[in-house]
Amino acid sequence: MPGILSLAASHAPTSAVLASGLARVESRFREQLDTTIAPVAELCEYVERYRGKMLRPTLVILSGMAASPSSAEPNENQVTVAAVIEMIHMATLVHDDVLDEASVRRGGDTVNKRKGNEAAIILGDYLLSKSFHLCSSLDEQSTALRVGEVTSIVCEGEMLQLAQRGDYSLDEPAYFEIIRRKTAALIALACELGAAHAGAPRSLVQRLSDFGDKIGTAFQIQDDLLDLVGDEPTVGKSLGKDLAKGKLTLPIIHHLACLDPARRASTIDRLRRGADAETDRAALAADLESTGSIRYARHAAESLVSQAKSLLAPLDGSPARSALLAIADAVITRAF
Ligand code: IPE
Ligand code: IPE
Ligand code: MG
Ligand code: MG
Repeated sequence: MPGILSLAASHAPTSAVLASGLARVESRFREQLDTTIAPVAELCEYVERYRGKMLRPTLVILSGMAASPSSAEPNENQVTVAAVIEMIHMATLVHDDVLDEASVRRGGDTVNKRKGNEAAIILGDYLLSKSFHLCSSLDEQSTALRVGEVTSIVCEGEMLQLAQRGDYSLDEPAYFEIIRRKTAALIALACELGAAHAGAPRSLVQRLSDFGDKIGTAFQIQDDLLDLVGDEPTVGKSLGKDLAKGKLTLPIIHHLACLDPARRASTIDRLRRGADAETDRAALAADLESTGSIRYARHAAESLVSQAKSLLAPLDGSPARSALLAIADAVITRAF
């Protein structure tokens, strides 16, 4: 069973269609990056080997199937949109690893570790420009308009986050503003465009977009939990980077809000000094447990997932709908 859906229960009716759909997405991705310029080809080949959960292409395909249960397989536009969104996602990861000075991604070296920051920055730019080029091959203009709009929102989220680094008074509304932009917006777009290219009515497209916004927000909360208390070999990427870079996430925001002023000041002082060593990570995890902050963040993510699932209640009881429900659960139960 392919990608993120392998984390969920068995979905035999959708898994074969999904597997062949994702294979088409991968070949569209590869074709778009095909080049005879040797150093460019070398970087692109490295990035192509570097496969993740394929969450966003999976959502394009399943949202399309849920919106149009009679279609046997994804149409060409959905395959293109899925490749475009995965390419944008990959560009943000390649750039993000430079910003975070991360060395591990998807179980291997990051591009910046293997090839240096300069190559990673240009490769990220190249992936973005290739994605917009591919998107412009669609007959209608509205998809490219949405893709451009949402990619700007993702960058705004990253810039907001950068501006608020080291701000230990960051509150929950500011945190949610950042993660909805940097992560949920692209996940919502995957659901929106999958449904739109299935010919779904506007209200259904909006419903699936709202579903994506909620699971996308929960997905980032889970990612932030894994950064604090996950197991690096299982997660497959460098952890502990959020605090190392002064980025406050939900468990930390909740924890600081629970402390009296003196303990808050000493905790901030400790956080500023960093928590790189395993013993520091373990002590921090115990502190977060003591204020119920891990539980608090898990509960916030669970509540978003349950709201997301209820949005799908009016849809036909198709296998694609049940696969989307399983993905909603997998987003917060995943360990990678
Ligand atoms: C990682 O996204 C970046 C975040 C938005 C948290 P994914 O966890 O979907 O990354 P891959 O594609 O599976 O590696
Ligand atoms: C991901 O945030 C944001 C992007 C949109 C790239 P993170 O910094 O938490 O992502 P990971 O943990 O490095 O994958
Ligand atoms: Mg990162
Ligand atoms: Mg993270």
